Amino acid sequence: MKLGKRLQTLHDVVTENYQHIWDCCCDHGQLGAQFLHSSQAHIHFVDVVPALIAKVKLDLTRFFPETETRYSLYTLDVAKLPLAQHSGRQLVIIAGVGGDLTAELMTSLCCNLRGDVDFLLCPVHHHYTLRQTLQSLPLKVIHESLVEENRRIYEVLYLTSGKTGATITPLGEAIWQHGTLSKRYLEKTLDHYARVPKANPKHKPFYRLTNTLHYKTQRTQPD
Ligand SMILES: C[S@@+](CC[C@H](N)C(=O)[O-])C[C@H]1O[C@@H](n2cnc3c(N)ncnc32)[C@H](O)[C@@H]1O
Repeated sequence: MKLGKRLQTLHDVVTENYQHIWDCCCDHGQLGAQFLHSSQAHIHFVDVVPALIAKVKLDLTRFFPETETRYSLYTLDVAKLPLAQHSGRQLVIIAGVGGDLTAELMTSLCCNLRGDVDFLLCPVHHHYTLRQTLQSLPLKVIHESLVEENRRIYEVLYLTSGKTGATITPLGEAIWQHGTLSKRYLEKTLDHYARVPKANPKHKPFYRLTNTLHYKTQRTQPD
């Protein structure tokens, strides 16, 4: 199975061993299926749409007939993930949904955490407001990076509720050290925030962000 660059990056960034990996908002379930192949973890496929979970079930039965005991399927809102019912190291992946929804889901999940859980996030848009929410939650950064697919650049946030890790910052840190990719991401982000206030005057405070982002460019090293 060949993953696209974004999903392959999310797969490759995980170097720890987990007992449970949750492929949340899984849609086609490609990322979870890759972990089913490459890791010993129990894989939990979660999506709110019953027809999508039925299709994942069909595909897994067909392509992974030997692994029936190593995965579970849930038609469920990710906000209600039963993390507390499982012991051992857990990784929750939320990718391919908006930053606002990711923030809502993370707020719900972090309210009910028992033990340390790691999170791998790859939101679409609204990174700044998402990071503001994440800063208010008991989370640390393990790793953060950028990935480009189909001319769109995504932030990848690998976080933990454990004690070791860096502080989450509103604009990110390591993502600005990716040379030309960071520069292009900066240009796209500035362009986005330059347009936001026109569409919605409520978002005027984002003007201030552009200055801070300019400062980040100066710190970005060329490749
Ligand atoms: C674009 S797909 C993302 C697929 C995959 N994670 C990726 O990154 O390519 C978004 C999926 O999120 C699901 N979804 C949206 N809100 C959800 C929620 N609250 N709980 C579970 N699934 C949700 C949708 O049904 C859809 O299948």
